[in-house]
Formats: sequence, C-alpha cells, structure tokens
Amino acid sequence: MLPKKCAIDCWIFVGLVLELVHGKLDFNNDLENSQKFQSIPTTVKTFENDTVLLPCSLNTPFRYVRWHRDDVALVDSRHPEILPPDRIMLWPNGSLQVANVQSEDTGDYYCEMNSDSGHVVQQHAIEVQLAPRPVISWRWNGHTLGLQGSSTGNRQSHVTEIKSRSQSGLIECLASNGVGEQAVASVYLHVLFTPEVNLPQSVVYTKLGARAHLECIVEAAPAATVKWFHHGLPVALGTHSSSHETELQSNRSLDHYVNDVRHLLVIKNVRNADMGQYECRATNRIGARSASIELTGRPMPCIFKINPGTQSSTSHVLVWQTESLMPIMEFKLKFRQIPSNNVTRQIRTNWTELTIPAQATNGLIYITTYTLHGLQPASLYEVSVLGRNSFGWSDNSKIVRFATGGEVELPNYSTESELLNDVTEEEDIQNEITQRSDTLRASMMFNSGSAEGRGLSGALIYSICLILVFKYQ
Ligand SMILES: *[C@@H]1O[C@H](CO)[C@@H](O)[C@H](O)[C@H]1NC(C)=O
Ligand SMILES: *[C@@H]1O[C@H](CO)[C@@H](O)[C@H](O)[C@H]1NC(C)=O
Ligand SMILES: *[C@@H]1O[C@H](CO)[C@@H](O)[C@H](O)[C@H]1NC(C)=O
Ligand SMILES: *[C@@H]1O[C@H](CO)[C@@H](O)[C@H](O)[C@H]1NC(C)=O
Ligand SMILES: *[C@@H]1O[C@H](CO)[C@@H](O)[C@H](O)[C@H]1NC(C)=O
Ligand SMILES: *[C@@H]1O[C@H](CO)[C@@H](O)[C@H](O)[C@H]1NC(C)=O
Repeated sequence: MLPKKCAIDCWIFVGLVLELVHGKLDFNNDLENSQKFQSIPTTVKTFENDTVLLPCSLNTPFRYVRWHRDDVALVDSRHPEILPPDRIMLWPNGSLQVANVQSEDTGDYYCEMNSDSGHVVQQHAIEVQLAPRPVISWRWNGHTLGLQGSSTGNRQSHVTEIKSRSQSGLIECLASNGVGEQAVASVYLHVLFTPEVNLPQSVVYTKLGARAHLECIVEAAPAATVKWFHHGLPVALGTHSSSHETELQSNRSLDHYVNDVRHLLVIKNVRNADMGQYECRATNRIGARSASIELTGRPMPCIFKINPGTQSSTSHVLVWQTESLMPIMEFKLKFRQIPSNNVTRQIRTNWTELTIPAQATNGLIYITTYTLHGLQPASLYEVSVLGRNSFGWSDNSKIVRFATGGEVELPNYSTESELLNDVTEEEDIQNEITQRSDTLRASMMFNSGSAEGRGLSGALIYSICLILVFKYQ
C-alpha cells in the first residue's frame, strides 16, 4: 500500500518540479539553452489563411517534444492519441504546423524538448496580420455621399450623372482599413457647360451722334467666343464699332475654372442705321447661347410718382416721369376701373386711352402732372402711361392702382405704388442649365498583396489619383 501511495505522490512531485523548471527558464536569452537548439526563435508575421511551420530541432536526437501556445497545451509527442486542435499538426521532426491561420492563432508558441542532455524550451511567435480590407466612402464638396459606390472585386466606382454646373467641385475617395489614418485621394470635377449670357441692360437708350455701349456678360467653361450681330448680320468692327473684353474673375484658383467675361460693343457715333436689335452670341464647344439687346432712341418707360396730395372723390392727380434723349411729343395714358374687392380679373372694363401733349423741358427728364376727372367715388382704378418721340413709343410703364376718395374696400394691395404689375406674363426665366449631361466615372482599385508584395503597401488606384493603404507590420 505504502509504495503505491508513494508512487502517486512522487508523480505529482515530479510534475511540480517540471513546471517550476519551465517557469524559471529564460529560454531565448539563455545561451546554454539556445545553443542546444538547431532552430532559431522566430516571430512569424503572416496573413489569414496561410500555413505556418514553427521549427523545433536540437543538435541531438530528442526523446519527446510538446508545444504550447501561451497557456494552452497543443501537442505532445508522447500522447499521439490525444487529437491536436483543429488545423494544428506535429511533424515527426518536432516542427509544429499551423494551417489556415486565423487571428486567434496569434500568440507565443513554446516548444519543449527533452533529450539526453536535458529539458529545453524555445519560444516562437505567430502574428496574424489582417490584410487591408478598405472601407471606401466618397465625399463631394465635403459632403459624404450616402450612396456607396458599387464595387467589383477590389474596384470601387461611383457613377453620377452630372446635371448641373453646380455639381462641380472636389470629389474625394476615402479608404480606411481601421489601421492608422484613413487614406484620401481627390479629384476636382469641372463641369463644362453651354455659355450663360447675362445682360445688365436689355434696352440701351441713345440718340443720334452719341456713343453707345452694349454689354453682355458671359460665363462659360471652356471659354466662349462672342460675336455681335445687328439685325441678324455680323457687326462690322472697325472705326465705327469696336468690341472689347474684360475678364471679371481674375481668380484662377482650382475651383474657379469658369470664365466670366464682360463683352462690350461700342458704337462711337450712333446713326439711325445703328438702331435696332443686337445679338450677343456666345459659343464654346459645348454649345451656343445668345441674348438680344435693343439700341433705341425711344423714351425710357415712364415711372409714376407717388402723389401725396389730397384726392377728391371723382378726380385723381397723376404724376409720372421719364427720360428721353430726343424731345417727347406726346403721352398716351390708359386707365380703367377695377373691382374694389373680390378681384376677379375677368370682369375688367376696357382701357380708356387719353392723348396728353408733352410739356417742353430743359433737360432730358420729363415730369408730367395730369388730373383725371369724372371718376367714380370710392372706386379703384389702374393706370399706365407711355411717351413718344421721333423714334417711337416707349414701352408701357408699370401699371399702378389708385383709389378715389370715400370708403373703399381695398383688395390686398396698396394704391398708387408700383406693386402688382398686372401684365405679368410670368417671364419664363429659363434658369435651366443646359450644359451637356455628362457622366463622370471615377473608379478605384485595390491591389491585394501578392506573396512578394506582403509587407509592402497595398495600392488603391483611383482613376486620376492614387490612394495608398499601408499595412502596418
Ligand atoms: C480567408 O478565407 C476566408 C474563407 O475562405 C475568406 O473569406 C477570407 O477572405 C480569406 N482571407 C484572406 C486574407 O484571403
Ligand atoms: C520538418 O518536417 C517538415 C515536414 O516534412 C519539413 O517541411 C521541415 O522542413 C522539417 N523541419 C526541419 C527543421 O527539418
Ligand atoms: C477665389 O475664389 C475662391 C472660391 O470661389 C474664393 O474663396 C476666394 O475668395 C476668391 N479670391 C479672390 C481674390 O477673388
Ligand atoms: C367675394 O364676394 C362675394 C360676394 O360679395 C363673397 O361672398 C365672397 O366671400 C368674396 N370673396 C372673397 C375672396 O373676398
Ligand atoms: C372691349 O374691347 C373689345 C376689343 O377691343 C371689344 O370687343 C369689347 O366690346 C369692348 N368692351 C367694352 C365693354 O367696351
Ligand atoms: C395680403 O398680402 C400679404 C402679403 O402679400 C399676405 O401675407 C396676406 O396673406 C394677404 N392677405 C389676404 C387676405 O390675401
């Protein structure tokens, strides 16, 4: 009985001693210890799914070998009946194979060998690297695009239809694999468009012998060429008429690629034949756009002045002003009564027209006062006026409204102000941008590391720019 009990005690004792020895060994730095090994301690940096062989060989034959990863026992040559963990295999020469490595295989590996010369331990390590798997996002003028690009393999592309020149701007692709700063590459998108023509003045008032300036402002990308036409025929440039260009934006920064140019047609000594319709036509390779300017000697449209004087119930004093380079011969005043409440446009009476002779004036400004008599009391009227000189009738003034004395139920507009021009044939200001609908295709590609490429950086290639994603080792 006693020897048997002792045998069990001795076994436990031996085990404890071995653990103690293990704990005390400073294997790799222990010269004597390491000299017994043929294999060298190694840290293997590897990628997911690879197979790693950790060597363990002595200068002398060994009796048994066993392997641990950190605190976990893996294999023991004395116990081949105990199945090793998945993917782990012990070779007869003592090497440990870890197949199809996963991130959890990262750790320190201890090889213990027992031979005639004793018990030795060598430490190795495996570090499983994560291949860069970039998450790619896109920004447009600083705004992150909600939609992610489509990806085909390692290529990421973002396809957008360009509908407006306002879409020009900075496009950035950002790639992140969770290691370090995200990589950014950018490209500046210039949307080319049909020239846009703006007129500071669509009617230019002049007189014979004067110097006239017709002006049109053209925005375009690429730059537009501008030609002037008069009654449909090209303007002959020379001593009589000359054209001039001034660049409005001297801002040549990257995001200001649009040409903004003021074009001026100067007519030095206006003749009768110079009057009429001009066209400023701007062309670039995307398209052409034009705008017309009228050069005229007619009077400017009249403007009603607010008359603060007290008004009677059946008459109303009107004051208007205009400017004409040639003497004004007469005015035409149009007025009509309008419903005082419940404005229903259909039941309008016809305009009554009055011809009013013009008063001589010292300058170019004509201020005319005229009193309308025989009006309905407590009623609303609307009125418009135009003037004529030797070149013809001016355009209509704005229509203004006034009320005659007495209680008048006003509709929701003020009297005798320049509000509510009724002739609103809502000018269809064509703001639509008609530049070529273009499709930008930006794509990026990730070159996954080849066997030799490991340890180098993976490269993200983005049509114009290059993104580098670094794998940190
Ligand atoms: C490893 O294999 C798994 C399963 O086949 C796969 O999903 C993963 O992409 C592989 N990893 C690498 C880095 O190739
Ligand atoms: C151990 O055996 C394996 C499998 O045969 C072999 O690939 C490896 O090179 C051997 N290692 C040494 C150190 O001889
Ligand atoms: C140039 O353009 C940029 C962007 O439109 C603007 O921020 C900057 O103020 C401009 N510089 C000048 C000198 O106009
Ligand atoms: C217009 O007048 C009618 C009858 O006078 C009245 O019933 C209706 O409410 C008025 N409508 C408005 C918008 O004032
Ligand atoms: C208004 O003018 C139109 C056309 O000028 C005419 O046919 C119509 O009879 C006129 N209405 C009134 C009420 O005078
Ligand atoms: C009158 O005009 C004002 C300003 O346009 C508007 O806010 C208000 O709703 C109008 N009132 C009525 C009764 O239409």
